Amino acid sequence: MNVRVARPGIKRGPYVRRRRWRVENCGPSVRMDARASTIETKIWGGLALVGYAANMRKTLRRATEWFEDEAFWREFYPFMFSERRIAEADEQMAKVLALTKPSGKVVLDLCCGPGRCSIALARKGFRVTGVDRTNYLLKKARERARAARVNVEWVQNDMRDFVRLNSFALVISMFTSFGYFDDKQEDMTVLGNMFGSLQAGGICLIETLGKERLAKVLQATTSSELPDGSVVVERHRIFDDWTRIENEWSILRDGRVKTFKFHHTIYSGQELRDRMEWAGFVGVKLYGNLNGDEYGPEAERLIAIGRKAVTKRTEKRLRVTKAKARG
Ligand SMILES: C[S@@+](CC[C@H](N)C(=O)[O-])C[C@H]1O[C@@H](n2cnc3c(N)ncnc32)[C@H](O)[C@@H]1O
Repeated sequence: MNVRVARPGIKRGPYVRRRRWRVENCGPSVRMDARASTIETKIWGGLALVGYAANMRKTLRRATEWFEDEAFWREFYPFMFSERRIAEADEQMAKVLALTKPSGKVVLDLCCGPGRCSIALARKGFRVTGVDRTNYLLKKARERARAARVNVEWVQNDMRDFVRLNSFALVISMFTSFGYFDDKQEDMTVLGNMFGSLQAGGICLIETLGKERLAKVLQATTSSELPDGSVVVERHRIFDDWTRIENEWSILRDGRVKTFKFHHTIYSGQELRDRMEWAGFVGVKLYGNLNGDEYGPEAERLIAIGRKAVTKRTEKRLRVTKAKARG
């Protein structure tokens, strides 16, 4: 209760005394308020700083991830997205729709690349959002959508960050776009985002290369020639107790060689199913191709399909919404 500290200028006179009394009596709380607010400011400032530092660390770490290198997608574009593969998308999407039977027309194509699947679905009358990290591929997607005269919403974002709650009847992740992160927990984040983005009753399909198939066909080195005469040499190495694969791809074009290394997690059918269930999906089913054949010894691909359950509450809300829509 030191008045001099609280009000150093106030010394004598009745009014002053009264003030002094008041100041003396409320001084400590005034000072405590002041001290508390200083502490509060410091805490918030500290937290903001910690948050900022964490964000910076994340941004720096992410900037060095292999898929951030646009040159990789540019150099291997003709290899990964050949005319044949792009043309296949119409038939593939017809099969995806037959397998998933979505209850609505709003679709998320996660890691859409140059929009193969997004555009094929938009042609079939779906309202599609295509999300991808790579600017170069999104530019291709925009050009292709313009040429096909379809409307697609293109979003540049990381699959670990994109979530639009309860918005989509169908979410797809096609052509081995899952499992890209060093930290496997981040694959769970992606599954959580896919689940969160689905409407109740919505369905999710992941199409990738399964561990069982890889174990069967893995060769240390393979090579292929592209229509323009360039040659791609692929080298593979399994590591981390058969959970991850490291790939080294070199492209020989016009007498020069460019080499890129990348790695990702490979899931077995059971591992992917477990993770989807942990993320909240129900009725998870596996298939060995988009025709819906069993995930057995002949499986060429790993297709996992899971649904977001309709709870009693969402069911009621859906009924009310439908009733309102009917007027
Ligand atoms: C093999 S391509 C598949 C493209 C497309 N799904 C298809 O079927 O043609 C993988 C895609 O994932 C995208 N990608 C890679 N890492 C990503 C990330 N962290 N967030 C979002 N997209 C990412 C790449 O830009 C690329 O378009």
